[in-house]
Amino acid sequence: MAITKDEQKVLAAKTAIDTLIEQKKIFSGMKIGLGTGSTALPAVKRLSERIEDGTLKDIKAVVTSFQTENYCKDLGIPVYTLNDRAIDGELDLAIDGADEIDPENNLIKGGGAALLLEKIVAYNSKSYAIVADESKSVTNMGTKFPLPVEIIGGARRSVEKELNKMGAKCVLREGVRKCGPVITDNGNQILDCTWEKPVNPAEMEEKIAKIVGVVEVGFFTKLRPTAFIAHSDGSVEIRN
Ligand code: A5P
Repeated sequence: MAITKDEQKVLAAKTAIDTLIEQKKIFSGMKIGLGTGSTALPAVKRLSERIEDGTLKDIKAVVTSFQTENYCKDLGIPVYTLNDRAIDGELDLAIDGADEIDPENNLIKGGGAALLLEKIVAYNSKSYAIVADESKSVTNMGTKFPLPVEIIGGARRSVEKELNKMGAKCVLREGVRKCGPVITDNGNQILDCTWEKPVNPAEMEEKIAKIVGVVEVGFFTKLRPTAFIAHSDGSVEIRN
């Protein structure tokens, strides 16, 4: 019997934490970056269970959003900032979800508007793991899930024009049950961008990051994460 998308998220998350513990890639005393969203949170939950059962001790977490911070606090996982002396700007591992993952493990992230902290955490971690359900696995990027670009609100029109020149159509992300744009955890806004044809994510990450007024781009191409992708048949593919 096929399992649902939500069940796949939990399965991917649980498998990732348990496998990484087994492989000694998660161990006591580690500094771990924790992602945001409906697949990252089950991973945080599993981590807390493995702390509670005594497998892991002295785990120091750095979170990527208010959502994850609140969740860690509810679960009793100690939360630090990257600047805290105990962390000193460097993490051992980060674990997170993704909106899309291509065959080279390039990612689109930011569906939950947390891309800036997610990228800071990921790019400052010695290793990186992604948890996802099978719907996130794609062959190319740019045309389906809109690429989130975090921008300074005052530069919205000028950034939009530059993105249009690169072939992107942009939509300002609107709030839900709040009039006006989504305001990120960092006080910025989000443009969601799509192209008519697939784009090269590595090139686009570089080009878009150079636009004045862009804070961060949702393409994550400079990391080679281990991806745990759960399928509807109950299997979990581990892709390096
Ligand atoms: C948050 O901004 C995102 O990068 C999430 O990691 C991504 O949107 C995946 O979220 P879900 O696991 O909820 O699909």
